[in-house]
Amino acid sequence: MTVKGKTILVTGAGGGMGKATVELLLENGANVVGCDLNTDSLAPFVGQENFMAYKGNLLDEETVEKAFKTSSERFGSIDGLVNIAGIAQPATPINEVSLQEFHKIMDINLTMTFLTCREAARYMKGNKSGKIVNVGSVSATRPRPGLQAYVASKGAVETFTKALALELAPFHINVNILHPGPADTTMLGQFAAAGAKVEDTKKEIFEKSVPLGRLIQPNDIANSIKFLLSEEANMITGTILHVDGGRNI
Ligand SMILES: NC(=O)c1ccc[n+]([C@@H]2O[C@H](COP(=O)([O-])OP(=O)(O)OC[C@H]3O[C@@H](n4cnc5c(N)ncnc54)[C@H](O)[C@@H]3O)[C@@H](O)[C@H]2O)c1
Repeated sequence: MTVKGKTILVTGAGGGMGKATVELLLENGANVVGCDLNTDSLAPFVGQENFMAYKGNLLDEETVEKAFKTSSERFGSIDGLVNIAGIAQPATPINEVSLQEFHKIMDINLTMTFLTCREAARYMKGNKSGKIVNVGSVSATRPRPGLQAYVASKGAVETFTKALALELAPFHINVNILHPGPADTTMLGQFAAAGAKVEDTKKEIFEKSVPLGRLIQPNDIANSIKFLLSEEANMITGTILHVDGGRNI
């Protein structure tokens, strides 16, 4: 499985899954652009010839355009896009969810994916090749109560991914979605209801929901993303890859 020499833009690169993905892709010889609102955690990679950190809000059209332009100028092409950036929703009864909160979650999880995929397609269509991996959530196929906006945003990203896979297939661009299960990152605790008791937010509660018996580690996600970016996945498009220890069953 090789990504050597490929230029791959990773969003949410400063977060748990993002950083692990950046690290694995760099180790495997890819040129990596790590984009995030906060790029502090990417400091260990700064200075490597094949790495560039790009700090900015990817909900802003101009920021997205500039991120791709800067990456293409620095490394010569855009071969892959990995959309990991996202936000959680604290479990909330629907009658207490504000319109503002609903819009915020849809914007960051769905609209941002649209913006980065649109920009990637502009580059990849010209090259007649490319790989896009969107990160959804197992909650798109197996929702938990109280996460209406979050699960709707991830379900929409799944359908968007399939539609884009079909549209971009004539250009040899693969578009897939990876649904993580409960993962061992700071985001996990953010799904807890406001005022939840400490014992309700413990990792063991989430672990018990995973048939394989442990939380998903950032490296589990990174390994599967690397596969979907590689030539071994050339005939895989429009597919959902659950990396969830069986949680979707
Ligand atoms: N952690 C879990 O249990 C879990 C489970 C299923 C799916 N997911 C999904 O996996 C992805 C990564 O999750 P994680 O656990 O690594 O979370 P994380 O919070 O560690 O990382 C998310 C990153 O996205 C960045 N981001 C958010 N809004 C942004 C914006 N407007 N512009 C640029 N960057 C922005 C954040 O700064 C953060 O670094 C998310 O899409 C999440 O919904 C997570």
